Amino acid sequence: MPRQLSVRRFYLSGKNKISISNPCHSRTLQCLWRLLLLVLLCYLIVLWQSGQQDGAPALVADVALRQRVQIFCIIVTYGHRHEGVGVHVKRTWTKHCNQYLFVSDDSHEELEPAVFMHRPDKWQRMRAHMEYVYKYHYFDENHWFLYANDDNFVVVENLRFMLQHHNSNEPIYFGCKLRTPQNETYMYGASAMVLSSEALVRFVLQALPNASLCSQEDHGDAADEQFGICMSNVKVLAGDSRDVWSNHTFLPFEAEVHVGSRMNASLEKHKYFLDRSYYEVHNLRLPVSKYSISYHVEYMPDIYDLYYFTHLVNIFGQIQHKDIQNAFGSADVKP
Ligand SMILES: *[C@@H]1O[C@H](CO)[C@@H](O)[C@H](O)[C@H]1NC(C)=O
Ligand SMILES: *[C@@H]1O[C@H](CO)[C@@H](O)[C@H](O)[C@H]1NC(C)=O
Ligand SMILES: *[C@@H]1O[C@H](CO)[C@@H](O)[C@H](O)[C@H]1NC(C)=O
Ligand SMILES: *[C@@H]1O[C@H](CO)[C@@H](O)[C@H](O)[C@H]1NC(C)=O
Repeated sequence: MPRQLSVRRFYLSGKNKISISNPCHSRTLQCLWRLLLLVLLCYLIVLWQSGQQDGAPALVADVALRQRVQIFCIIVTYGHRHEGVGVHVKRTWTKHCNQYLFVSDDSHEELEPAVFMHRPDKWQRMRAHMEYVYKYHYFDENHWFLYANDDNFVVVENLRFMLQHHNSNEPIYFGCKLRTPQNETYMYGASAMVLSSEALVRFVLQALPNASLCSQEDHGDAADEQFGICMSNVKVLAGDSRDVWSNHTFLPFEAEVHVGSRMNASLEKHKYFLDRSYYEVHNLRLPVSKYSISYHVEYMPDIYDLYYFTHLVNIFGQIQHKDIQNAFGSADVKP
């Protein structure tokens, strides 16, 4: 406030010097007060503008949303991937979760995972992870539970933005939606998915103990299909994670496949997705939402690029989108 002080000093010692003992009747004092108010106002405007250039209003919105839509992230990793993969996830997007927990088959100093040993089958591991999170310390009915792989890149802020239109008491889960040849819906296991607290409760308390609702056999890589079947048997809805323009937010493959080139039907994993996508895919492309949430990372050092360009870079002159309230709102909103 150096300017303010110098103005005050100028008037106090200038030729219109005022009497402190008789302040209320002095016109000079009124003038001084107005000037002070004006300077203060200018100062506040300057503060507000510099705040805007730093993206401060967006940050304020994010702080409020972070309280309102709380996300507990579960990240699945393995001992042999801790150093090459897991730590890079920990050092980038996981800090945007309200809380997070790595789950692994081995311990690690930096990741501090919950360790699940002697479970070679993926489906048995998944069941154990969900049960552990529900039963031991981590459950909160206000939370959403993100279940991600160590090679997913997740924009947690956009996930909150999507989820703010839902209540964690709804029995619902979201992800990259597929269907089996028998027309059962499930979320692609290679992508991340998010469960409401009610969905987690139903899975752990109703589905897990009951073999007629939810298989207790080994299922290996079909764990994601089994999870979908169990969820539908306990009446948990497979939600639509697309935005109001039907653009996709949970992208199954690497960012460059979705925003740069296109899928390749001769690649086995792309073909699997193309055959099973719940939503029709035209021309080997998924329309990508401007509020996209999840991608796969093939080459791990890329995760730092993704993180920098999604969370840290400032684009000079960029303005706020007016559509911000409507991207996941009621379906009748048009672009
Ligand atoms: C799959 O299920 C959906 C919704 O239940 C239905 O609309 C659709 O016709 C079914 N498709 C096939 C091939 O059975
Ligand atoms: C398991 O689920 C089936 C089908 O909903 C139900 O009939 C049965 O009573 C359940 N068993 C137990 C032990 O809860
Ligand atoms: C698609 O994948 C196949 C098998 O990897 C490869 O030979 C082919 O060049 C790819 N096509 C395009 C258009 O990238
Ligand atoms: C939706 O996706 C299409 C195709 O990628 C794109 O042209 C359009 O700008 C996207 N719209 C929004 C609002 O994200």
